[in-house]
Amino acid sequence: MKPTLLKIEGLHTSYGRIPMLLDVTLDIHEKNVCCVLGANGAGKSTLVKAILGMVKADKGKMYLKDTDITDWPSHKRVAGGIQVASAGTGTFPKMTVERNLKLGAYNLLHAARDSKVLEERLEEVYESFPVLKDRLQQKAGTLSGGERTMLSIARAVINKPDLLIMDEPSLGLAPIVVDEVFRIVRRLNQESNMSIMLVEQNATKALAVSHYGYVIQKGQIIFQGEPDAIRESALLDNPVM
Ligand SMILES: Nc1ncnc2c1ncn2[C@@H]1O[C@H](COP(=O)(O)OP(=O)(O)OP(=O)(O)O)[C@@H](O)[C@H]1O
Ligand SMILES: [Mg+2]
Repeated sequence: MKPTLLKIEGLHTSYGRIPMLLDVTLDIHEKNVCCVLGANGAGKSTLVKAILGMVKADKGKMYLKDTDITDWPSHKRVAGGIQVASAGTGTFPKMTVERNLKLGAYNLLHAARDSKVLEERLEEVYESFPVLKDRLQQKAGTLSGGERTMLSIARAVINKPDLLIMDEPSLGLAPIVVDEVFRIVRRLNQESNMSIMLVEQNATKALAVSHYGYVIQKGQIIFQGEPDAIRESALLDNPVM
């Protein structure tokens, strides 16, 4: 089995006095795509926020490559190789696509302070996301939903994270764009060896690109396994899923 990149053990979180995540234990292995499936309000984005350090762990532990990051602030987790892409966040609508990408490469600039490295990464990103290359001077807020999703993924991957977390990348997109997003997931994993945590409601498409998956319901992991096991579990036919 591939080594574990992110390990979560017995994680509990709450919003005020209301418990949200209950005893969540989850492993993401290196070079794997792992999906987290669940209905609206199941706690998926809360889990993402907990991994990013934006929601506090009341109980439980989190390890990145065996280092205990439970008490790390968000910026340290990002510097440690975790990036998130979600359509609704992370891009600055009044700034151009190019500026968004350069700001996204914050980590890279910090590490290398080398504009040549940045130029190379930008070229790689333009190659992977040609739709962005055609719109470099356009303000991000005027992009279509699909283009904005591409921008949010691009600004995360420009840093070459070890773990890319995608929170419902297919949300609200036309089927043809959804297919493109999942193709990108597969390509990033296969060509760049990136581990990807794919949070999705579109279970069928997510399972098709995943090595492993978890099903979350009311803040608890109720099932986990390889894609076939999840398909056979009939959980996907369940309306609460
Ligand atoms: N800041 C907050 N304060 C109080 N409750 C919150 C807060 N954020 C989320 N919640 C609640 O926690 C529950 C889980 O929310 P979460 O965003 O994690 O769900 P989700 O699985 O991502 O759902 P969706 O698929 O709709 O994005 C919801 O009932 C939500 O209303
Ligand atoms: Mg959510």
